[in-house]
Amino acid sequence: MFAARQSFNLFQKRAFSASASQASKVAVLGAAGGIGQPLSLLLKLNPRVSELALYDIRGGPGVAADLSHINTNSTVTGYNPDAAGLRDCLKDSEIILIPAGVPRKPGMTRDDLFNTNASIVRDLAKAAADAAPKAHVLVIANPVNSTVPIVSEVYKSKGVYDPKRLFGVTTLDVVRASRFISQVQKTDPAGEKVPVVGGHSGVTIVPLLSQSNHASISGETRDALVNRIQFGGDEVVKAKDGAGSATLSMAMAGARFAESLLRAAQGEKGVIEPTFVDSPLYKDQGIDFFASRVELGPNGVEQIHPVGQVNEYEQKLLDACLVDLKKNIQKGVDFVKANP
Ligand code: NAI
Repeated sequence: MFAARQSFNLFQKRAFSASASQASKVAVLGAAGGIGQPLSLLLKLNPRVSELALYDIRGGPGVAADLSHINTNSTVTGYNPDAAGLRDCLKDSEIILIPAGVPRKPGMTRDDLFNTNASIVRDLAKAAADAAPKAHVLVIANPVNSTVPIVSEVYKSKGVYDPKRLFGVTTLDVVRASRFISQVQKTDPAGEKVPVVGGHSGVTIVPLLSQSNHASISGETRDALVNRIQFGGDEVVKAKDGAGSATLSMAMAGARFAESLLRAAQGEKGVIEPTFVDSPLYKDQGIDFFASRVELGPNGVEQIHPVGQVNEYEQKLLDACLVDLKKNIQKGVDFVKANP
């Protein structure tokens, strides 16, 4: 009886958190893909989502029909790229997640995906800027260091750019960092918070172990851990042996980030996620985007936290990061200028 009452209370709380006044439409572009499907599943299970809109160049309606049978309150609709499909999918969205695009194969860097994914992201950004210019845009498609500037250039060209509403999803780097450090230290990953700053590829991923619970990690243990956090994605690409890159862990990370944004939008204070945003931190060095801990609010970015105190080893990592990051960002900007 007690257990039943407890679960009823929980249900009431959940129903309240998803009340009509807090209705949130979330769109997923690339919803039938390796990330898109499990990400959409997790969003269907999120009581803060009232409407789920799923678009893909193929298979969107099938994924939507399947998910729509899950007995949670949100509605699910699938869209194809016919006349108004993408526009209808995007219209009135509060959050737009973009996992559309090709993933890596063994031996590829994220930058190798640029030629294919740049135009996919540019075209989806154009549609989003027209149909839902005030939505939060969460870019998952790689190379994130370049695709985020691509979205910003498209929004600027249409006069609707709001730097507070554009995010490169780097959550997976943080998820990996807490998991990997817990494996080394034999602790519970839930209690491990490792800030990861910079960008989202190879040496641009900068874990700050000195700001974790294990600041004293040093020598080979530290080097191996940092390398694993920077190149953890390669482990999955290699293990999948040509069948793609991280999808399930990425779906979890993307759903976590979307949930954080919805919590902040619904009034919760102190919601902080590391994410790649239009940032003042290194603008004086010509670097317009940078991932650091960001406090989220109803309008997106509320406050960008500085990198904080780093040690000599981490400063070297940061220096290497900034060199690559600048080139990656410029590549995205140049692409839109040359291919508007
Ligand atoms: P996938 O190939 O399994 O799925 C991609 C989906 O996008 C497919 O269903 C495809 O039909 C769709 N698509 C292609 N062009 C489209 C367009 N113009 N409009 C709408 N949909 C379109 O690939 P997967 O594994 O889901 O990866 C997607 C992207 O996410 C890749 O670029 C990958 O590198 C990136 N990724 C990002 C991570 C991050 O931490 N930010 C982590 C892992 C992957």
